[in-house]
Amino acid sequence: MTAMRRALLLVVLCLWGLSACRREAGGFSAQPADRLTPVARRETPSPETFPAKPTPVYPTPKFPTCQPDPAPALDLSVYSYRPIRPISSREGGATSLRQLAELRRFYVGVSTAPHFLDNREYAGLLAAQFNMLAAENAMKWEVVHPEPVRYDFSQGDALVAFARANGMAVYGHALAWDLQQPGWLTGGEYSREEWIQILCRHIKTVVGHYRGHIYAWDVVNEAFQNNGALRNTLWLRKIGPEYIAMAFQWAREADPQALLIYNEFFAEGLNQKSQAVYSLVQGMLRQGIPVDGVGLQMHVWLWGPPTRQELTANMRRLAELGLVVHITEMDVRTQYAKDSPAEELAVQAEIYRQAFSACLETPNCNVFVAWGLTDRYSWIPEYTGQPDAPLLFDRQGKPKPAFDALLDLLSRSP
Ligand code: G3I
Repeated sequence: MTAMRRALLLVVLCLWGLSACRREAGGFSAQPADRLTPVARRETPSPETFPAKPTPVYPTPKFPTCQPDPAPALDLSVYSYRPIRPISSREGGATSLRQLAELRRFYVGVSTAPHFLDNREYAGLLAAQFNMLAAENAMKWEVVHPEPVRYDFSQGDALVAFARANGMAVYGHALAWDLQQPGWLTGGEYSREEWIQILCRHIKTVVGHYRGHIYAWDVVNEAFQNNGALRNTLWLRKIGPEYIAMAFQWAREADPQALLIYNEFFAEGLNQKSQAVYSLVQGMLRQGIPVDGVGLQMHVWLWGPPTRQELTANMRRLAELGLVVHITEMDVRTQYAKDSPAEELAVQAEIYRQAFSACLETPNCNVFVAWGLTDRYSWIPEYTGQPDAPLLFDRQGKPKPAFDALLDLLSRSP
């Protein structure tokens, strides 16, 4: 191809769509090159075939920055966890999920809280089967920043200490969200400039505190409504839509190594919300905002999880932007089912299997996190007021068919 024809082709591709333009132009990526598996070209439905949404325009990254607040230093002796000798949850010491995952350089994790770790059976199961933990509540604003000038990192530090002692990665959650915020924040009266400083200092302080210890941060969590419009959060009201891009800029400034994730629920399949998420991250990449990936939470029910085809298509189109894609909070509610318990568990296992294998088959998906270790510790019964069994282990810590499904998938040769 002559230089002239190649240049013409590039212009056409750039007009047609940025990702195609990037591939043709030599695979430009906003990501650090060593963080990502190269993205294979695959046939993926064009975003234009999904429900139409205009691509939002986000401002260029020239946001004011700030200095972190004075705060306690990381203290890994808060709880003196010693390494727990990995035990298998299975009779006879069969290979664990984490061992199989590590052969593929894959992270399998669950969310947890420091007070659960005092239970040796719980801690042993966690460290035996998983190589990642997510901070279910310990790093949320109401916990770490309860007063304007006071930070409390004791819970988060305990999780990091446990993870380090047991060779596990830590998923940080969540920096800009509209829930579990302290009263001083929700009832605060500040100017827009002050709100910007408040969010900036929080992110710089928290991310800076854990710098080098967090694999990925949920920088912005659940910013969209199901119809794809921005959720009316405190941050949207006080700062405007650019709070999203600002949060990513500040998180990158505070820890250049952590992956920076936009995390969302009900955005796993192809719908208005997942289209909005796609447009958001595509727009941020175009503007040089340092977003590294998307977290698909996967809080689903026995009926109506996204189809495998939709899930795969959504994950692949995100991966083709050069982003990582993580399953970040999976659980499968059983409480509305009418089948026998055995049938319910079989259906549940199949839903976990489909999600896990979609991740395994997607370039750049190397993290799968369930939202809790055993059914005893799920958030769902408290939230719904109904018993439930949404996780990989039952209330006694015995593996369920869903766990077997993941083990089976990882046991197969890659
Ligand atoms: O901290 C208080 C404690 O002091 C008090 O004794 C206790 C009494 O019930 O409540 C404790 O707070 C609870 C907190 O979890 C810590 O356990 C809150 O009531 C409870 O509402 C809170 O629920 C959390 C929920 O987020 C809040 O929205 C769940 O544990 C947590 O699993 C859930 O996680 C969210 C993710 O962050 C974002 N994605 C959705 C996911 C599920 O809602």
